[in-house]
Amino acid sequence: MSEAQKKFYLTTPIYYVNARPHIGHAYTTIAADVIARRHRLLGDDTFFLTGTDEHGQKIERSATAAGIPPQQFADQVSAQFESLWKRMGITNDDYVRTTEPRHKRGVQKLFQLLRDRDKIYLSTYTGQYSVGEEMFIDGPPGTIGPDGKPTETITEENYFFRLSEYQLPLIDLIESGELNIQPEVRKNEVLSFLRGNPTSLILQDDDPLDVAPSSLDGISRQKIAIALQNDTLRKSAAGNIYVPGALKDLSISRSSFKWGIPVPGDEKHVIYVWLDALANYMTAIGYGSDDPADQAKFEKYWPADLHLVGKEIIRFHCVYWPAFLLAAGLQLPKAITAHGWLLFEESKMSKSRGNIVRTETILDAFGTLLTKSEADRRVKGTASAVPQPPPITDAALAAVVPSSSEEPAPPTKAEQDLFAADVIRYFLLREIPFGKDGSFSFDALIQRYNSDLANGYGNLVSRTLSMIGKYFEGFIPEMDESVTEEISSFRKMQETVNFKDGFISALLGNFERGEFDRFLQGMSIYVIGIVDETLTLMAPWKNKTTEAETTRNRIWALYYAAESIRIITALLYPVMPYAASKVWAQLGLGDIEQAAANGELKDLRWGGLKPGTKLGPLSPIFPRADKGLIQIMTDMEQNSATPKPTEPAGLPQVNIEVDNPAHEHTEFRESPISSESATPSMNLIAETVHPIAHQSAVPDTPQIVIDDFVKIDLRVARITVAERIPKADKLLRLEVDLGYEKRQILSGIAEWYTPEELIGRNIVVIANLAPRKMRGLESHGMLLAASHGENGKPVLATFGEDIALGSRLR
Ligand code: MSP
Repeated sequence: MSEAQKKFYLTTPIYYVNARPHIGHAYTTIAADVIARRHRLLGDDTFFLTGTDEHGQKIERSATAAGIPPQQFADQVSAQFESLWKRMGITNDDYVRTTEPRHKRGVQKLFQLLRDRDKIYLSTYTGQYSVGEEMFIDGPPGTIGPDGKPTETITEENYFFRLSEYQLPLIDLIESGELNIQPEVRKNEVLSFLRGNPTSLILQDDDPLDVAPSSLDGISRQKIAIALQNDTLRKSAAGNIYVPGALKDLSISRSSFKWGIPVPGDEKHVIYVWLDALANYMTAIGYGSDDPADQAKFEKYWPADLHLVGKEIIRFHCVYWPAFLLAAGLQLPKAITAHGWLLFEESKMSKSRGNIVRTETILDAFGTLLTKSEADRRVKGTASAVPQPPPITDAALAAVVPSSSEEPAPPTKAEQDLFAADVIRYFLLREIPFGKDGSFSFDALIQRYNSDLANGYGNLVSRTLSMIGKYFEGFIPEMDESVTEEISSFRKMQETVNFKDGFISALLGNFERGEFDRFLQGMSIYVIGIVDETLTLMAPWKNKTTEAETTRNRIWALYYAAESIRIITALLYPVMPYAASKVWAQLGLGDIEQAAANGELKDLRWGGLKPGTKLGPLSPIFPRADKGLIQIMTDMEQNSATPKPTEPAGLPQVNIEVDNPAHEHTEFRESPISSESATPSMNLIAETVHPIAHQSAVPDTPQIVIDDFVKIDLRVARITVAERIPKADKLLRLEVDLGYEKRQILSGIAEWYTPEELIGRNIVVIANLAPRKMRGLESHGMLLAASHGENGKPVLATFGEDIALGSRLR
């Protein structure tokens, strides 16, 4: 790190491994990645950390329920988080796991340090413990904890941390802004917890205390004055009142379970999971290591510049964590920013509510858009069909469709993932003001994608570059002097509306303050929108009175648009790094990662795009998304939703997602482009099947034991009724006879089977799958089918011999 280079250390919460990642986790990680990329392009020595939180009773119990040792359980789920981040192109510099030796060593060192400094003592405690949240709760036995479940009464000999000593120091640090908590609403929440919720009146010394007793304000002031005299209230350095003693000491060890880091020297206790977890922010960068290189790393990066967290964990980060650090004599993080929750169907997405959306669904579904559009382009030689003026004619694009030697390779699966990850990144940050809660829906995702990316940015890029291809043989036009003059006067006019320095820096100000929605809205409406309108007004595709004028107009318009695109792309890079890299390469500017590292992306001065630059090979950036994708994603989620626990047919209900964590990967993985090489594989065709639900050529499903298999109750059934469902093109309503009962099952096979050919067929049904509703109709069970070929055509499993209905498959 050079003298002038700033360091920037940024963290996400480490995610619990009791549940698989969902889009709520991805939200934090994405925001952190966007911030990290911005800091890197500014030249800061950036360190971005994420990881998993693997200890505690919650994890221990989940592992027991899954019938495997906690370490194995943690290994599996942690690997899912890590591979998802890789799939999404997340640029974390390290990935910490709390079961790693480097972490355990650091936590024990911190504990020992606190004990040496007399900040820890041993005592007994009886209280109401929320297992879900790993915390004691005030209240009588059976109190409902923050996780919505009754607390458990626990009496334990515990080590306690002298948290109460830090009430005033923390209030002062937060009120003075030295510990910066964003947004304001969260800062106030923390302060009110620390103050013990006294009235939030700010006492001013010159306020008269003898105001008329009839005034409520006067009464409260008098009460406060008395309380201050009695020492039941005190004032902070900033003059705000608080209740002394409201912050209690904190139990920081547990002896009722084993899955944690042992207290050094007293191994019947494990260290409280939050002390364990919070310490990751230091252990990952070398705290607790004897290696001088690690120690230097810690010196370099600590304290953290920003802890990014969800709003539900601010107390741990803004009260406990800074108190531990103060007590240990270590520096405090500079800032903690809390974002809101992603809601789905009006409540926080969480495994226990069963209302999660998995990021993989969107990666799988959106990723195929890229392949499809690329295939279309190859067949038709046309770019994405975005109905915007001017129409991009085949002839126009043919002029720039690269020669065969330049033909870009078809998008790989990794590229599809990165493209889809960009879509998620853009959507989440554009749609939801960062500190607030926001609803997630596939519908909104598609709408936003089409309006801002396909019709907005993507269309501007396509039409500008295809016209440069057509009119200037793919070279950024060379301007003669008169044109340079005209363009600069024209640009002055433009500056007043969009590219004025002040405007871009105002937008960047939004970005720095974490107002990503405003930044992206400004980019979309006032930057991309205006450049697009200007291009339409200048109509470079039209002939003017003379040929010379036509050429000049084209040079003007297309240089202006292309240079604007360069600046727009540099600004959007942290949010959509993959799309930006494609546009950058198409502009002929090479590798955007290199440009970011060289500081070229922070140079937003006009004129950076040199005339004469040869465009790279063109291909669509954001193909338009069909509304059908909404149904596809909804179906994918429903197929993996958690069923309600009831027990028909004397067997437990199967939750395929939980019992087989690889389910989604096997069912929805893309197969290689060439479908001929693919061999059909058995697929569970649930209520619906969609075109991308086809097989992977090389199955990578993890092994299961026989106990896993016997949970699935496969039975022979006969289809007795089959009919189409109005307004549901893909669904058929089936009635099946299982011998011991009749059922209704909705199946998404209408594209492949007519009702007539199904009636009377013997098939295989997953009988103990929990019922669920689709289109207002109950569906109880799944049909078993092989999925064949590129379109994932289902082929129903059936029998070559007579077989009694209801027979079980083993
Ligand atoms: N393990 C603790 C954190 C320890 S940090 C020292 C924990 N883990 S968690 O898996 O429950 O996830 C925490 C974070 O995931 C949240 O703070 C938030 O950043 C993110 N989210 C999880 N669900 C979310 C939503 N539904 N919406 C937005 N973010 C969510 O708490």
